[in-house]
Amino acid sequence: MRIRVPGDKSITQRALILASLADGTSRLSGLLHGGDAESTAGALRALGVPIAGLPVGGGELLVPGVGLRGLRAPASALDMGNSGTGTRLLMGVVAGTGLKATFTGDASLRSRPMTRVGAPLSAMGAAIHWIETEDRLPLEIDGCHPLRPIDWRSPVASAQIKSAILLAGLTGTAFAGVTEPRRSRDHTERMLGIVGARVVSHPGSGGWRVELRDPPERLEPLDFRVPGDISSAAFPLALAALGGAGEGVEVTGVGLNRTRTAFLDVLARMGAEVSRTVADNGASGEPIGDVTVRAGALRAVSVDEEEVPALIDELPLVAVLAARAEGESYIRGAAELRHKESDRIATVVRNLRALGVEADELPDGLAVRGSRQPLVGMVETRGDHRIAMAFGVLAALPGARIEVDDPGAASVSFPGFWELMGSLGDAAHGV
Ligand code: S3P
Repeated sequence: MRIRVPGDKSITQRALILASLADGTSRLSGLLHGGDAESTAGALRALGVPIAGLPVGGGELLVPGVGLRGLRAPASALDMGNSGTGTRLLMGVVAGTGLKATFTGDASLRSRPMTRVGAPLSAMGAAIHWIETEDRLPLEIDGCHPLRPIDWRSPVASAQIKSAILLAGLTGTAFAGVTEPRRSRDHTERMLGIVGARVVSHPGSGGWRVELRDPPERLEPLDFRVPGDISSAAFPLALAALGGAGEGVEVTGVGLNRTRTAFLDVLARMGAEVSRTVADNGASGEPIGDVTVRAGALRAVSVDEEEVPALIDELPLVAVLAARAEGESYIRGAAELRHKESDRIATVVRNLRALGVEADELPDGLAVRGSRQPLVGMVETRGDHRIAMAFGVLAALPGARIEVDDPGAASVSFPGFWELMGSLGDAAHGV
C-alpha cells in the first residue's frame, strides 16, 4: 500500500519559528497539523506573531514574520503542551530578546530536564528562574540583548540543546559555538542557512562542532515545503516489516536526512526488505524521497551509542520489533531515552513484560528476547505518543489482543495514526 505521513515534527516547529523571526512573509506547506506544532504556533502567537490556524492536510500557510527584534512579551505563561522541542527552541529564542516569558506544559513535559538548555542560556547572559522545582518547568526566562558569545560543550548529543544555543545566538546577536559528542539531527543548521545565517559544522575535538558566525541583522523569509516525518513513517514501515501490512508499505515524500534514517538501516539488518529513493531536495534543503519496506524473517539486532542519535525517537519501535525477532536484541548507549516524553527505557520494558515478552532494563538501554507467543495485555502510555504508537504496531498484528490506555496520545505527532493502522491491517486481510 502506498501512503503519505504527516509533516515532520522537528522541521515544522523550526519552520514556524524561523518564519516568525524573518523580515517579510514566509510561505510554508506540508506542516504537521498535530499537538506539538499547535503548541509552538500558539506560543509564537502569544509572542506577537500573527500566525493563522495551521492548515489540515499540508496546505499552504503564510506567516507574516515580525523580524528578529519584533517579538513582544507574552501576557500569560506559554503553555507548550507536550512539546520538548518547542519549549527548548523557544527558550533559546526568548533568551536573546530583552523579553520575559514563563514556560509551562503538561505533566510529561513538566517532568523533563531543562537545565541542559537553561545552563548555556544563563552563560550567555539570560536569567532563568525555576518557579517550582529546579531543572523543571514551569520556569521564567528573563531575556537579554545582546547576549554574550558562547562556546558550549554539551555532554549529550541533542539537537534541542544545540538548536536552543544557535537560536539564542541569532536573536541575541552573539557568536554561538556548540560541540556535541555525536552529530544530532541538523535541521536547524540547514534552515538557518536558507534564511541567510552563516552556520558551519564539522568534526571537532571530542565530537561534532557547529558554529553560528556573524549573526545577521535580518532573516530572509522562507518558501518551504516540510517533508513527511520519517519518525512517523517508521510505524507503518515497522508493521510492514512484521508482515502485518500485506504486500508491504511504500511511504512517499518523506524526509531522508541521514541524521534521521538509522532506523531504516536497523530494519534492513533485522532482515526486512528495505529500499529507498531520494527524489529531490525540494525547497526545504532536506533530502526527500520514497521508502518501501516488505516483510522478512526478523532476527535480533544490536544498536549502540554510535547509531543512537540518528534513531533516538525510533528506539521504542526497535524494541517492539525485537519482541517478534529471532534471538536477543540489545540497545545500549541510549540513556537519553530516560528523558523523553516518558522514561522510555522503563516504559518500554514494563509494557513488553505486561504483554508476556521477556525484557530487561539496562542503565543505558534495554534487552529484549523475541518470541512467537501471542501478545495479550494492557499498555500504559504514560503521556508518551511514541509509546502509544510503537505498541499500536504490535496491536495491529493478527492474533494480538493489546489495549493501549491512551490512544489519543498519538495526536501530538501523528493525527490519523490509528485509522492508518486499521487500513493497513484491512489491506493485509484483503478487506
Ligand atoms: C528533536 C530532537 C530530539 C528528539 C525530539 C525532537 C528536535 O531530542 O528526540 O523528538 O526536533 O530537535 P534531543 O535533541 O533532546 O535528543
